Amino acid sequence: MTEYIVINGENPLQGNVSISGAKNAAVAILPAAIASSGVCVIDNLPLIEDVTNLSNAMNSMGAKCTLQDPHTLVVDARDVTGYTLSEKLSKNTRASYYFMGALLGRFKKAIVPLPGGCDLGSRPIDYHLKGFAALGATYVQEHGVVKLEAEKLRGANIYLDCPSVGATINIMIAAVFAEGITTIENAAKEPHVVDTANFLNKLGAKIGGAGTATIRVIGVPSLGGGEYTVIPDPIETGTYMIAAAITGGDITVDNIIPKHMDSVTAKLTEMGCDITEGTDWIRVRAGSDLRPCEVKTAFYPGFPTDLQPQMATLLCKAQGTSVITENIFEHRFRYINELKRLGAQLKVEGRTAITRGHCVFTGARVTASDLRAGAALVLAGLCAKGETAICGVSHLDRGYERFEEKFRALGADIKRVKRDE
Ligand code: UD1
Repeated sequence: MTEYIVINGENPLQGNVSISGAKNAAVAILPAAIASSGVCVIDNLPLIEDVTNLSNAMNSMGAKCTLQDPHTLVVDARDVTGYTLSEKLSKNTRASYYFMGALLGRFKKAIVPLPGGCDLGSRPIDYHLKGFAALGATYVQEHGVVKLEAEKLRGANIYLDCPSVGATINIMIAAVFAEGITTIENAAKEPHVVDTANFLNKLGAKIGGAGTATIRVIGVPSLGGGEYTVIPDPIETGTYMIAAAITGGDITVDNIIPKHMDSVTAKLTEMGCDITEGTDWIRVRAGSDLRPCEVKTAFYPGFPTDLQPQMATLLCKAQGTSVITENIFEHRFRYINELKRLGAQLKVEGRTAITRGHCVFTGARVTASDLRAGAALVLAGLCAKGETAICGVSHLDRGYERFEEKFRALGADIKRVKRDE
């Protein structure tokens, strides 16, 4: 039996949806918590499989992770002595690479398998490793496992060839424990970089400049405990904003930070959607005719690659030709073949996809190849004629909390079923 998300489309979605904690912040903050020698209470965690996988990984290393309520995890890392992560526990979650920075920082040793996660093309971690080496660590990579060691870590000036989110956060976590001052130049500015820095500062770290291109870390000997609330998820927010536009609906997305959504708001406005926002909400009313536009993915505050598949799906329905350029991940157009089974007309040339628009989606059986590919197929299914059945549901469970339930509350005909292949 295979699990499917089954959607009967063409319902304009309406109402309010509350956004969960940010996946990419949570999956950095949890591994960072193992670097603390105290007790951390982390609130507003999204109920997603990546979070469950990471807390299992932390327990396997001697931490005691206890759910206080479904969104609040108490992490007691006082008795952690292990610095080895098993392959079984690291293979499904890309963010398991953050255990490298956290364990190296606290124990000066880390044995961590190369990470899993979405297959978006080659996803090297050379910047992470070069950063750890600059702080004084040595490393070897054997049989798919990275072994890091240092007698002590020393502050250094580190320049990143590109503003990698993962490398910025990983080096920043390790640098908390490096003697002296570390500067990370050409750092990523994403909201989850800032959130992880704020969390570490709450525990006693001294990190400045997070959210700018230069992060400065003054080393401390150890971290204590503390309470922290994770920011809302910008990618989940963007997915529901696009859902309003693609279904001809009217959705208010609550419990968010509108500033994080500027690039998405700008594009949906350019397409003719009516957008209003308050301090912690955005309302998107679909335009009667969606205008085409150009979208280029970029590091924050540019248009996020994690919303590119959803946006390209929307642009298929615009009244004219749109061009989508993917600048971050080489294989991020893999979803297009499946989207074509629902009627999309998208032509890919290298890093660019072109659609002439005017697409009418029709339901079919399709497979999600990764997390955001799955979200794009759900969006197409929501406006398609007839039934869309999506398998590969586990990808969606890794990153979206209760998404069928949230879409159902907005008026979608969507359910999860088990069927023979
Ligand atoms: C993170 C996000 C992911 C998002 C991506 C870009 C997490 C857990 N995942 O992934 O959802 O799509 O940022 O916003 O937060 N690169 C190297 N060498 C490195 C590191 C990166 O060449 O050592 C390259 C990558 O191949 C890619 C680019 O830098 O082309 C950006 O990658 P990066 O920002 O590191 O993405 P991830 O941390 O993998």
